[in-house]
Amino acid sequence: MDQFVIKGGSRLRGEVRISGAKNSTLPIMAASLLADGQSTIRGVPELADVRNMAELLGDLGAAVSQTGDGQFQIRPEDETACHARYDRVRKMRASICVLGPLLAKRKKARVAMPGGCAIGSRPVNLHLRGLRALGAEIDLDGGDIVVKAKKLTGAEIFLGGPFGSTVLGTANVMMAATLAEGTTVIESAACEPEIQDLADYLNAMGARIRGAGTPRLLIDGVDELRGAEHQIIPDRIEAGTFMIAAAMSNGEVKLSNVRTDHMMAVTDKLREIGVTIEATDGGVVVCSARRLEPTDVTTQPYPGFPTDLQAQLTALLCLADGNSAITEKIFPDRFMHVAELLRMGANIRKEGPTAIVTGVKRLVGAPVMASDLRASAALVLAGLIARGATAVSRVYHIDRGYEHIEVKLRSLGADIQRVSGS
Ligand code: EPU
Repeated sequence: MDQFVIKGGSRLRGEVRISGAKNSTLPIMAASLLADGQSTIRGVPELADVRNMAELLGDLGAAVSQTGDGQFQIRPEDETACHARYDRVRKMRASICVLGPLLAKRKKARVAMPGGCAIGSRPVNLHLRGLRALGAEIDLDGGDIVVKAKKLTGAEIFLGGPFGSTVLGTANVMMAATLAEGTTVIESAACEPEIQDLADYLNAMGARIRGAGTPRLLIDGVDELRGAEHQIIPDRIEAGTFMIAAAMSNGEVKLSNVRTDHMMAVTDKLREIGVTIEATDGGVVVCSARRLEPTDVTTQPYPGFPTDLQAQLTALLCLADGNSAITEKIFPDRFMHVAELLRMGANIRKEGPTAIVTGVKRLVGAPVMASDLRASAALVLAGLIARGATAVSRVYHIDRGYEHIEVKLRSLGADIQRVSGS
């Protein structure tokens, strides 16, 4: 297994281009199963999760080809295959988003029930509730979710759960409803930009979706969808991670391909902490004051502060001048990075779903272990500013969601090497 070896202390300087959003790409690739014909998706990041999704679509009878520069062509061919097996779903929970398209287009699907993961228990009950409301029969058989329907009919569906809206649940139900008979209303829909991006793609395919980006989605069913061309939006989580890296290293970094309108909660919080973020020609320039202010932050569904940047912000607040409180309201157990940051000299106390961080003068390099994608990113950020060397093991977690992160960081002056392991 590869690891990253990082020698801390370099100030990051220069320019980096943000990749296409992983969490747009995965459901959009799955949505291509709904089309009669070929779709072309542009701006697809080179990630392990994308390769997994491409292989899954191949298992499901789609021809998937890549023409370089982040372009994918996807054409459903054999519509008899309907099984997303456990060995795929286990590697990537986002495999669940083939459920809606398969049900709508092929009238049946068998998708392994995803288990828990390092960020906590992640049920899919809301996905299933929504599909049932459209007329699907749902069973559990041998660890697989088995759904079928003679036909899907539009319905009024409330998709809110104990932690608010569900992103992939909204994606699944919205995709299924595109081919249902009549109109579907989804209340408490996720408002994330990735849902808007998916709706834009579906509409380009001929779907009739209104209200994307708001909690109320209206979907008029159509008889068929055609292949379409689509450009993936920039990854707001990768952009936020590089903003935090610039701030922690007291550097000056220009990010291009950024949608700051998707990042208001992030830029607002970073400015409060003392980070300067200025729009320039085609991007933003990020630099920081020497003194970082402590803050309180609570993760929330969009447009609130994203859970996917909670670990990275925790690493930043380890350097702030005082006490900060970070409350996780989406995945209350998503704190695997805390124990590893403690190994690097951080001062963090957990109280239920809150981490109380007391800033320290410096972090100290140590061998640490990545547990999930965003926790790993936080450890890399900590390593960049720690005194001495940090070895982050199990970086396959990072490769799932950050395109060539070590290459990008090196281009900004970081001393980070990938060391291949057995
Ligand atoms: N939930 C339910 N029932 C459901 C579905 C979700 O109770 O049927 C709960 C979850 O347990 C959680 C909350 O609702 O407490 C929100 O989960 P959501 O369904 O929105 O998460 P997701 O759609 O499975 C996506 C991203 C995650 C991101 C979350 C929250 C993708 C591929 N994944 O997951 O991204 O953390 O939304 O924003 O889009 C990541 O990129 O590192 C990542 C984990």
